Amino acid sequence: MISLLQPIRSCDSFQNVNDGDDGDDGFDAFFGKDGTMAKRILVIGSGGREHAWALRLANGATSAPMTDRQVFVCPGNGGIAQSFECITPPSNDVAGFVSVAQKLQADLVVVGPEQPLTEGLVEALESQNILAFGPDTFCAQLEGSKSFMKTVCTEAQVATAAYGVFDSIDDVKSFLADKMGGWVVKADGLCAGKGVTVCTSAQEALEVAEQMLGTQGTPLFGEASQKVVVEAFLPGTELSLLALCDGEEAHLFAPARDHKQLQDANKGPNTGGMGAVAPCLMVNEPSEPFLLRAKNEVFQPVLSWFKEQGHPYRGILYAGLMVENDAIRVLEFNVRFGDPEAQAILWGTPADLLPDLMAVAQGKQIDAPAYEKKCEPTCVVVLAAPGYPQKAQKGLTIHGLKDFESSTRSECFFAGVARDEDGLQTSGGRVLGIGAKGDSLPEAIKNAYEAMKPVHFDGMQWRTDIGTAP
Ligand code: AMP
Ligand code: GLY
Repeated sequence: MISLLQPIRSCDSFQNVNDGDDGDDGFDAFFGKDGTMAKRILVIGSGGREHAWALRLANGATSAPMTDRQVFVCPGNGGIAQSFECITPPSNDVAGFVSVAQKLQADLVVVGPEQPLTEGLVEALESQNILAFGPDTFCAQLEGSKSFMKTVCTEAQVATAAYGVFDSIDDVKSFLADKMGGWVVKADGLCAGKGVTVCTSAQEALEVAEQMLGTQGTPLFGEASQKVVVEAFLPGTELSLLALCDGEEAHLFAPARDHKQLQDANKGPNTGGMGAVAPCLMVNEPSEPFLLRAKNEVFQPVLSWFKEQGHPYRGILYAGLMVENDAIRVLEFNVRFGDPEAQAILWGTPADLLPDLMAVAQGKQIDAPAYEKKCEPTCVVVLAAPGYPQKAQKGLTIHGLKDFESSTRSECFFAGVARDEDGLQTSGGRVLGIGAKGDSLPEAIKNAYEAMKPVHFDGMQWRTDIGTAP
């Protein structure tokens, strides 16, 4: 049985016709003002990123819901459910998501997180003739396996850090013997953002590899760290660059900066991301030629490689880049939007992505507008629960949201949030993302910190230097 959280979204702009489509699917059909049935878009996922997807897709290039579409989120969260219908799937897996999409008769499914992509959700939906936006499992290995990613970089001749792939600690020892400098140890598989450790010496890297491989017991991340990638530490300026890829061409979004460490001045443990700003390009090269170079040196070779393998890459491709002097090197690829980059980029870019996503899902090439030029200066500050990233405290009451005004200039993105009759509570590590726009990035940053002032919960953690950290 599929259960709906109570939808609170205003449907004023729709003429609501009970079950107007087939009589018994349990969902109301909405009709746009011109009488055509609204498209049903299903966003899979439960975080701030999915909230940002839902808002952008619902609003098109505007800042209010459009009448030709209806957006649902599965499973969503208690905060998103205040403005979108959130659907709890029968199971949080591929079969569960497919059954929701079928029941909903979705016109398009947009997959937010990496896990269902690596587990085959896109193919499973397509096999039921449901249009799905996201890469297939072959392409999703780019994020699902760090060693696969390295192989792609090597074969596509994309610059990345020197590396080795190991399943034995003795081989790590020989590889690191007599080596100086910093090293980065990465579990091969998906570890929910915890599988990368930056080490200042070869000795430390060896110890981390030992733990990950589990030579003293079971592997630290189970199957995900039966194999590790050990790679050279790259100095430089980090940058997140994302593109909507149609199999042939990468259509770039504005560059963004994500702040991964928990504390100010880039101290403390790595997190999923404590805030983001866009557009933000801290390199000594004008934006336009730099982005063209990144497209030609990184994105296009990867797309050509996948096409040659018979798996055109269709979906969002996220490149975590390190830029040093002129060199652009890839630290990681993700096969979906980043979180919180999505909140900054998607909300900051007033473009109607829906026709493009539908075309890409149908295997068509798109003539996308230059998304990267459309992004308004945007900042998102993440408010995290106490204990995050180790063990986030749940059930804390969130105060002050009544005084928070969503507008074209400020938005609250809901992530680890649950709701009951008493209101909203924390239910995960990253709880909220407070977004603001401005005429310039410094103004957007100032506005975000101003906008978050009324919002609080016990033990709330946030960084005060989003967009300004070194
Ligand atoms: P990843 O998940 O691979 O992006 O790694 C998480 C973070 O670790 C990145 O955002 C970087 O800050 C850092 N990192 C990863 N690989 C390297 C590298 N080779 N050199 C320097 N920093 C790295
Ligand atoms: N913010 C980085 C990520 O989503 O992986």
